[in-house]
Amino acid sequence: MLKEIATHRSVRRFLRRDIAPEVLTDILHAATHASTVGNMQLYSIIVTIDSRVRHELAVDSIDESAAEEASVLLVFCADVHRFSKWCSQRDTKPEYQNLMWYAHATADALRAAENAALQAESYGLGICFIDTVLRSADRLVELLGLPRGVVPTAVLAIGHPAEQPPVSDRLPMEAVVHYDRYNRFTSAEIDELWAERETSEQTSALLERYGVDNLARIFTDFRYPADDNVRYTERYLATLRAQGFLNNDQ
Ligand SMILES: Cc1cc2nc3c(=O)[nH]c(=O)nc-3n(C[C@H](O)[C@H](O)[C@H](O)COP(=O)(O)O)c2cc1C
Repeated sequence: MLKEIATHRSVRRFLRRDIAPEVLTDILHAATHASTVGNMQLYSIIVTIDSRVRHELAVDSIDESAAEEASVLLVFCADVHRFSKWCSQRDTKPEYQNLMWYAHATADALRAAENAALQAESYGLGICFIDTVLRSADRLVELLGLPRGVVPTAVLAIGHPAEQPPVSDRLPMEAVVHYDRYNRFTSAEIDELWAERETSEQTSALLERYGVDNLARIFTDFRYPADDNVRYTERYLATLRAQGFLNNDQ
């Protein structure tokens, strides 16, 4: 298992070939066996095979071709709608349209998404998560007809790989694993933890592509700049409010 996980790489170029229905069923089956809060399964998966819908989903993503070329896009949605409806039909009063249950439902959806990704990779398929979700959640709500209590959380592109990119650099384990208590790194320790990534071949290629001499700047100035972050957050909060997840505010 570790060998497969440790050789994961996001694939962004796909062959124009369908995924066999039984393989897709297995992938969805794997998704539905992830742990969920109270076994409530607070997520829904929208399988988008229609190329027009896939095209619409791809707009705004960093690499639109990954979404366009994939055989299928799975949209994982945080969903308290179905569960709440069931509760109401059983003469109980559900109270799940708030931020706490948004967090639970989002985590449920992401655990399902990762299970699906691992299952797809175990079949030799390529996967890539697409970041369109948080940036244009309002558009996806409209496009996919999501009712109140449902928001998109992750889009997973799956297809037959047309490339085999190198495995991406990772920070050393000490950067992310703490024992018993959080270790607040000193500046020198931060420098040390990043040293290998900052001097890797992958980083050199990125620095050249962006024309900068500092890896951090690629994130703060190009990929995820402050203005975008504020603007997209406002847009996302509006979507959460419209979908009924911020009832504590009202
Ligand atoms: C939430 C999320 C959104 C992502 N969005 C995109 C995307 O829009 N385009 C893209 O090319 N890669 C996207 N990725 C892939 C990441 O760039 C990739 O996971 C990261 O660079 C690490 O590389 P690896 O997956 O090959 O290990 C996304 C990954 C995640 C988890």
